[in-house]
Parts: sequence; structure tokens; C-alpha cells
Amino acid sequence: MRFTDKCVVILGGNAGIGLAAARQFAAEGARLALTGRNEQTLHAAAQECGALAVRADMGNVAQTRAALAEIEQALGGIDVLFVNAGVGGFAMVPEVTEDFWDQIHTVNLRGAFFAIQHALPLLRDGGAIVITGSIGSVAAVPGNVAYAAAKAGLRAMARIVAKELLPRRIRVNLISPGPTDTEIFKRDASAEEIAGMRDMLSSVVPIGRMGTAEEVASAALFLASNEASFINGVDLYVDGGCLELG
Ligand SMILES: NC(=O)c1ccc[n+]([C@@H]2O[C@H](COP(=O)([O-])OP(=O)(O)OC[C@H]3O[C@@H](n4cnc5c(N)ncnc54)[C@H](OP(=O)(O)O)[C@@H]3O)[C@@H](O)[C@H]2O)c1
Repeated sequence: MRFTDKCVVILGGNAGIGLAAARQFAAEGARLALTGRNEQTLHAAAQECGALAVRADMGNVAQTRAALAEIEQALGGIDVLFVNAGVGGFAMVPEVTEDFWDQIHTVNLRGAFFAIQHALPLLRDGGAIVITGSIGSVAAVPGNVAYAAAKAGLRAMARIVAKELLPRRIRVNLISPGPTDTEIFKRDASAEEIAGMRDMLSSVVPIGRMGTAEEVASAALFLASNEASFINGVDLYVDGGCLELG
């Protein structure tokens, strides 16, 4: 029960890693608020975890700001902010359009930065911010240029935010998942394509399989908890050994 009575906000808490984290935070006594875009999954997640759900598109800074204000009204200050919402997409360098680049960066980097900026006055001193990066930020994967650049931006941004927040004792860390079995790579794909991608992705992980949302969420909870009280500014790879052993 590491989070008894702690106010935890998960931006992107209605699917995949964010939903797994919501379940784990709820099981450990947190008072939870979740955001996401999909009304149906957001409502279901909120019901299951006893959480407040606020619909907000992370690509829209005004919506994020309004959601945070609503959360503050309902829960008071924030002890843990988990900035997890993200979108994927592949295009080789010659095929990257301005729209494609902007779609990814508006949510994954711009949206995340302004969410943190607007959450600062609501965060309690001594709290924690955890941000979901990706091993894509340091791995040279063809077709991943727009996503990798956004996640690398998050990584750079997180270290500066961590430094600026030192006087307030708010720790800021990243988790960087490797291939993890969530909806992110399944949207708009046939069952056959999904099976092919799962095989391909499993084959690049040294331990021989994709990670689960629960495994990645556990790392996020660790960094958010007092167990990680001496860990600040790190990027924790949760990737079955992809980066260090691949
Ligand atoms: N799965 C992997 O292999 C992998 C690897 C490295 C990093 N990651 C990162 O892990 C994080 C979670 O992804 P996941 O794998 O759990 O994928 P997922 O199952 O697709 O979940 C993505 C989450 O982000 C939310 N989200 C996406 N765009 C949003 C927006 N514009 N506004 C608000 N919420 C938004 C989604 O809510 P809605 O459904 O309501 O939009 C959902 O809660 C992402 O940052 C992703 O980049 C994943």
C-alpha cells in the first residue's frame, strides 16, 4: 500500500500501460484521476478503479489545463503525475509529412510538456512525476524517426524539469518501454498482421517475448513511490534487455 491516500493523476490512463498502472495504483490505496480521449474505455477504467475520469485530448493544451483544474477541484493537490499518453506511427524519412510529424509531436512531446507545466502549481512538494518515454528515443529503428525524436525530446525535457524542481523535492523520471503488448501496435491492423508483428517484435527482445503492460506499469509505480526516493532524472529501460543486451 505504497500510495495510501496519495493523489495520483494518470494522463492516458484508460488503456494499455496507463490502465495497468491505474489498476496497480488503485490496489495500493491511491486516490486516482485518469484522462484519455475514448469516452467508453475511460468510463470503464474509472468504474473499475474507483477513479475520477476526465476526458481530455493531450494534443489540446486548453483541454489538458481544464482537466487538471477539474482534478484539483475534486482531489486537491497532486502527489504523483504519470504522463503516459502517447501515439505511435511509422514512416521512412522521405515519407514523413508535416501532418504526420505534427500528429506525433503534438501529443507525445508538446502535449506532455504543457501538461507538466500546467500541473506544476498543483503538484505537492516532495511528489513525483513519471513520464513514459520509449527505447525508440535511443534505438536507430528505420521508420521511427518522428516518434523517436518526440520521445528523445521528452527525455531531454525530463532532465531539465527534474533539475528545476530540485528545490521542491519533486523527482522526475522516465520509464522507457521496449516492445510491449498493448493496443498501440494493433490499431488498424488485421489479426494476421498483429500476429506477424508480435513474432517480429518478440524476436528482437533478448528475453524472447514482448513485455506486458503490467510489467511496465510496475516500473512506473516503483519510480513514483518512496522506494525510489534517491532516484531522480533517470530513464529506466523496461525492455527485456533490448538496449543493453540486444
Ligand atoms: N507498447 C509499446 O510497445 C510501447 C513502447 C514504447 C513506448 N510506449 C509508450 O507507452 C505509452 C502508452 O502506450 P501503450 O502502449 O499503453 O498504448 P495504448 O494501449 O494505445 O494506450 C495509449 C494511451 O494513451 C492515451 N492517449 C493517446 N493519445 C492521446 C491523446 N491525444 N489524448 C489523451 N490520451 C491519449 C490513450 O487514450 P485513448 O485511447 O482514449 O486515446 C491510452 O490511454 C505511450 O506513451 C507510448 O508511446 C509504448
